[in-house]
Amino acid sequence: MGKIIAIANQKGGVGKTTTCVNLAASMAATKRKVLVIDLDPQGNATMGSGVDKYDVAHTAYDLLIEELPLDKVVETETSGGYELVAANSDVTAAEVKLMTFFSRETRLRSALIDYKDKYDYIFIDCPPSLNMLTVNAMTASDSVLVPMQCEYYALEGLTALIDTISKLASVVNSDLKIEGILRTMYDPRNRLSTDVSDQLKKHFGEKVYRTIIPRNIRLAEAPSFSTPVMYYDKSSTGAKAYLALAGEILRREEQLEQNSLETV
Ligand SMILES: Nc1ncnc2c1ncn2[C@@H]1O[C@H](COP(=O)(O)OP(=O)(O)OP(=O)(O)O)[C@@H](O)[C@H]1O
Ligand SMILES: [Mg+2]
Repeated sequence: MGKIIAIANQKGGVGKTTTCVNLAASMAATKRKVLVIDLDPQGNATMGSGVDKYDVAHTAYDLLIEELPLDKVVETETSGGYELVAANSDVTAAEVKLMTFFSRETRLRSALIDYKDKYDYIFIDCPPSLNMLTVNAMTASDSVLVPMQCEYYALEGLTALIDTISKLASVVNSDLKIEGILRTMYDPRNRLSTDVSDQLKKHFGEKVYRTIIPRNIRLAEAPSFSTPVMYYDKSSTGAKAYLALAGEILRREEQLEQNSLETV
């Protein structure tokens, strides 16, 4: 069964796209079949996957508005070993047009229904807002992965996001779960980071991944080489951290399956 994970945080620049591209590449490297859907008109996940957003035949616009089937929209050649639904500024038009549709929240979910089981994981890179694109992502997803920086206002933002997720869940997707909270751009020498990190663990317990993504210059450089970090510098701490995250997610999944077998 394929699993769909939205990567979302309404705050900008917290590491959503970096997480999406590098987690997808790490999962693909473990022989999982992976799809990335770029739902951000900035198209950063598209460019970071080695696909030129200015020169793509199709984008998420075609999926959401034109109702083209996924296999007609998908790019199969990326630098990360996964498939990609691209985004560029056309996706802004999609957001506007969505507003005029009946059942506008469920367009992406409908587009994925027939394809979900073709993949082990589908990761959706959300824009930094809680707009109709993000709502579509959350409606289509099994769970939400929340990257966050351990900063002073981060917990407030997180509470607002979790509020939104539970409201959405009650209206459009009662099965939606929090997949996990990921600490990104972490600097252990910064006292505030460690304080916020401690509070995070206190509030959200097991939902906080053990894996921490450190601040690592290689992660910031890789997109300018149009590739996930593991194909740019595989020995970097950034590359290792995202491989560890993929491992943690897979182990959690196995654990859940094990538990459900034991209760049968
Ligand atoms: N762990 C890290 N170490 C160093 N730089 C990082 C790290 N994670 C992300 N960055 C850099 O920080 C910037 C923001 O990251 P990213 O684009 O992933 O955030 P985002 O949440 O997707 O942003 P937006 O909200 O604009 O979509 C980028 O320049 C990225 O290369
Ligand atoms: Mg982004």
